[in-house]
Amino acid sequence: METLEFSGEEILFWRKKLLSNGGRAVDLDWLLDLGGGLQWGELQKLLIDPSQSLTLDQSLDYLASLWQEHIDKQIPLQHLLGRCPWRDFELEVSSAALIPRQETEILMELALTRFDKNFLGLWADLGTGSGALAVDLARSFPHAEGHAVDCSQAALSLASRNLKRLAPLSNVHLHLGSWWQPLRPWWGKIGLVLANPPYIPTAVLNRLDPIVRDNEPHLALCGGPDGLNAFRKIIGRASKAIVNNGWLMLEHHHDQSDPVLELLIKAGFKDVCYAKDLDGIKRFALGRNK
Ligand SMILES: C[S@@+](CC[C@H](N)C(=O)[O-])C[C@H]1O[C@@H](n2cnc3c(N)ncnc32)[C@H](O)[C@@H]1O
Repeated sequence: METLEFSGEEILFWRKKLLSNGGRAVDLDWLLDLGGGLQWGELQKLLIDPSQSLTLDQSLDYLASLWQEHIDKQIPLQHLLGRCPWRDFELEVSSAALIPRQETEILMELALTRFDKNFLGLWADLGTGSGALAVDLARSFPHAEGHAVDCSQAALSLASRNLKRLAPLSNVHLHLGSWWQPLRPWWGKIGLVLANPPYIPTAVLNRLDPIVRDNEPHLALCGGPDGLNAFRKIIGRASKAIVNNGWLMLEHHHDQSDPVLELLIKAGFKDVCYAKDLDGIKRFALGRNK
C-alpha cells in the first residue's frame, strides 16, 4: 500500500478546515484512522506536538472528498469506505444491512460470559444483517454449528462474504426466511440464540437522524407500532426451538426492557434478567428455556 508523508501542521490545518464546514470531530478522526491509517493515539500525540511528520495510507485530498460526500449527501462514512471495525475484526458493510453498532458488542460479551470456546452445541443468530454476530460466534465457538437467518437476501449475501473472509473454516449455515421458520429442522436442539431485531417504533422512524433513516434498511429498523413485533414473534416460538436450559439473548430499544422481560417470563423462560449498555441503560434481555 502506498504511504504518503505529511507534516503534523498540515494534517491539523486540514482537519480544522474540514470541521469548520460542519460534521463531528469524532467522525473525522474515525475517517483519518480507518481511511487514512492514522490511529487515534497518533492523532492525540499530534495534537500535543504538531512538529512531527506522519505517514498516511491515502492522500488528504481523497479523504477530504469522502468527508465532503458524507456531509453533503448525509451518507455514513462506513458506507463510503465499505467497511466497519467491530470487535476484533473489520466487516464489509453496505446499504444492504444495518451498520453493526458498538452496543451489539455487549450482546456478544453476554454470550461469552456463559459459553466458552469448547461449546459444541448449536447456535443461531436471528436477523444476522452483515453477519457481525455470526462471524464472532463462529470465531468464538469453533467446534459449534451455527445458523444465521435473515429475511433479506441482500443482507445474507453480505453476511456470507463476511463469514467466508473472517471465519473461513466455520460451520455456519445461512438461511433465508423469517425468524425461526427456516430453522424448523433444528427446533429443540439450539443451545444459544442471539438476536438484535428491528425495534424502532414506526412513529419514531421519521424522527431518526436522516443519516440512519435514509441509508439503513427499514427492514432492519422498523419494529411495528410499539417496536415489539419481532420480539413477540421471536419469543413466542423460542421455547419450542431452544433446547432445555438453552439461552435466548436479545438487544432492544432503550425503553423496552420491561415489556421484553415480561414476554420472556410469560413464555416460561427462567433466569430472566436484563443487562445494561455502556450508558447504564437496560438494553439487553436474557432468559433460559425451562
Ligand atoms: C437491527 S438489524 C441487526 C443486524 C445484525 N444482527 C446486527 O446486529 O448488526 C435486524 C435484522 O433483522 C432482519 N429481519 C427483519 N425482519 C426479519 C424477519 N422477519 N426474519 C428474519 N430477519 C429479519 C433485517 O433484515 C436485519 O438484517
